[in-house]
Amino acid sequence: MSIKYYAKVSGTGMYVPDKVLTNFDLEKIVNTSDEWIRTRTGMSERHIAAEDQAASDLAYEASLKAIKAARIRAKDIDMIIVATISGDHPFPSTACVLQQKLGLKGFPAFDVSAGCTGWIYASNIAKQYIENGIAKNILVIGVEILTKITNWKDRGTCILFGDGAGATIISRAKPKDISRFIDSELSADGTHYDLLIQNAGGSRMPATKETVEENLHTVYMEGNKIFKNAVRSMYSACDIVLRRNHLDVHSIDWLITHQANLRIIQALGKKLKINDKKVIVNIEKYANTSSATIPMALDEAIRNGKIHHGDLVLLASFGAGLTSGSLLFRV
Ligand code: ACO
Repeated sequence: MSIKYYAKVSGTGMYVPDKVLTNFDLEKIVNTSDEWIRTRTGMSERHIAAEDQAASDLAYEASLKAIKAARIRAKDIDMIIVATISGDHPFPSTACVLQQKLGLKGFPAFDVSAGCTGWIYASNIAKQYIENGIAKNILVIGVEILTKITNWKDRGTCILFGDGAGATIISRAKPKDISRFIDSELSADGTHYDLLIQNAGGSRMPATKETVEENLHTVYMEGNKIFKNAVRSMYSACDIVLRRNHLDVHSIDWLITHQANLRIIQALGKKLKINDKKVIVNIEKYANTSSATIPMALDEAIRNGKIHHGDLVLLASFGAGLTSGSLLFRV
């Protein structure tokens, strides 16, 4: 008889750069106002990486905290998966750079590109590797420095993003452990791949003087269309895992969704009919850190004593691709 293994989150950590950019600072850069940003997005401030900081630097700091929280040694890690769309280089992967920074080698390390859903995609992959017995401790990170690929002349996007990293250790659970991943659902709708895109810098549109001058290496987003898709796709991903596990939304202790817009978070909460007090929100402090929002919010909620051992947590995200997904687990 084959042994059934389960995956669990055994440690979390986060890191944000020191520099803070407030809505009032943004008023000096583009034609916007603190009032507009707060009422339309729920954001007040965001952290911005220093000139010499790259994604692996943020990921490294968050990883050290997660390793400590999981009470393992770095050498116990047997896989690294980094979710990012703003890695150190187009190649090699940021996961390999991070592996080197952590002084490790000899096991798989790779990046996942799924926009803001990246950490959920990466955790779903980690779940498979733990459940099939191949890996025991996987370092899964969501990290972004989107402010380095932001068009600071476009008020529709430049107010939205912040930089940060959220790290998790996903480990094999002990047989009697109540902490475990229960289910996860991933999806994508590539018909809308061009709604949220970095147009230049790849093989479709290699870098030229013109692509730089025309700001084609920065984030292009049709925010309105994404907004409409966001609630629908996250609701569907949540509904599928709740139904598949015969769970009522009232049995969920905490909902953490991608922190892209407070109105999206509230609309999803309302559609799911979950109590507002169970919805974790930290968008006002960090804005949209893309693939890092969920692991950062998870780490913060565990460290500030909101989320406890044994709580049932539902995570949901959407992002570039357009990707979407959910993950249900017991802490
Ligand atoms: N300050 C002031 N006014 C602004 C700003 C701003 N920063 N940005 C836009 N406006 C104006 C527009 O020009 C428009 O003016 P008009 O009516 O005179 O034309 C008006 O505000 C309304 O614009 P909308 O785009 O309709 O505003 P909306 O309420 O949709 O908010 C926003 C825009 C915040 C971008 C919203 O659409 C949103 O959050 N979308 C989802 C974004 C998202 O989640 N992206 C996916 C994740 S990111 C990733 O994967 C990397």
